[in-house]
Amino acid sequence: MKAIVTGTTGQDGYYLSKQLLQNGYEVHGLVRRSSNINTFRIDPLISEYGPEGKFKLYYSDLIDSSSITNLINNIQPDEIYNLAAQSHVAVSFKNPIYSTHTSTTGTVTILESIRNGNKDIKFYQASSSEMFGGEKEEKLNEKSKLNPKSPYAAAKVFCHDMTKIYREAYGIFAVNGILFNHESPVRGETFVTRKITQAVGRIHLGLQSKLTLGNLDASRDWGFAGDYTKGMYLMMQHSEPDDWVLATGETHTVKEFASKAFESVGLNWEEFVETSDKYKRPNEVNHLLGDPEKAKNELGWVAETSFDDLVKMMVESDIESAEREKVLLENKLIKPTWEYHT
Ligand code: NAP
Ligand code: GDD
Repeated sequence: MKAIVTGTTGQDGYYLSKQLLQNGYEVHGLVRRSSNINTFRIDPLISEYGPEGKFKLYYSDLIDSSSITNLINNIQPDEIYNLAAQSHVAVSFKNPIYSTHTSTTGTVTILESIRNGNKDIKFYQASSSEMFGGEKEEKLNEKSKLNPKSPYAAAKVFCHDMTKIYREAYGIFAVNGILFNHESPVRGETFVTRKITQAVGRIHLGLQSKLTLGNLDASRDWGFAGDYTKGMYLMMQHSEPDDWVLATGETHTVKEFASKAFESVGLNWEEFVETSDKYKRPNEVNHLLGDPEKAKNELGWVAETSFDDLVKMMVESDIESAEREKVLLENKLIKPTWEYHT
């Protein structure tokens, strides 16, 4: 089996590529060119499976339609997982055209290539719980109303609808995975969970003194990314294409996440966390809670990792990272610039 994975250098791209390779797939990953090599997450997979083996990488970009179409025509994959996106909601308010353009152009380009080329290629679209808008405290499922609140979410709604349209109009096996927030030790450092666990690691080792966050009252249904990429694969093996929600069915506030993370190293979060409007959004999604019943019944999928285990896994990994940073700092090989980056 051959799969193309867009966004292979991202969090989900790493877990999904790893699981597909372990299942014997040939994985063709798209990497966008940057001035620094940005394959740090997938470097272990490159060492184990590529580049002459089953893990092949290509420079491409969602906006470069011709390169994507050429790759699909040349590779003739069985499955395409479209994970690439400018995935940071707050950044999408600052870069709305780029954020919208990448998601929408990339998705339609792939769907058009399948329609005009080989209609047997299966397509997975990375849809998001962010599309619901999360105004009320309610369980959200595949039938819940979409009410996007950011350029990111509006672009995802467009891609979600186009995936459904290509499924219905052309009989393409095109699925939407409506995934609630999922995190891991390789989560991007400016998403709130990783920002917290990285700070906990550094504060625990005396490398950082304060953590500045935005809205502490927002709540999210947080699961472990490695569980969710298994769900993506199961959707693509289902007899009929459809849309499925993946979630834990539990929600926690940012404050609860921070409290649990600091508590795990014996610290009281209130002594270290301050807030700033800088990290608040022009339009906030206040509350997200998913109902994963359909995925459980039809795919046999459940989120296996508990909230407590997720926090623990991320904090432990970030303590190890902080220990490495401490050695580099002591030897004057790096400077602590993290306050500027988040
Ligand atoms: P991520 O870590 O931010 O990864 C995004 C990937 O997209 C990276 O590989 C990135 O490349 C790539 N990318 C960005 N712009 C691109 C462009 N113009 N052309 C080609 N590639 C581009 O995100 P993630 O957490 O793995 O999420 C994967 C997908 O699921 C995203 O579409 C996200 O919106 C969606 N999603 C995520 C969650 C979640 O909680 N994680 C929930 C629902 C939906 P670089 O490595 O070079 O930046
Ligand atoms: N990033 C960030 N940084 N968020 C903060 C901070 C902060 O300092 N302080 C509070 N928050 C709040 C945000 O306002 C939001 O309500 C919540 O923490 C979660 O923010 P993020 O971790 O940035 O994730 P997100 O929920 O906006 O988006 C993620 O999940 C979506 C699925 O619901 C991303 O992965 C999206 O790509 C994904 O679609």
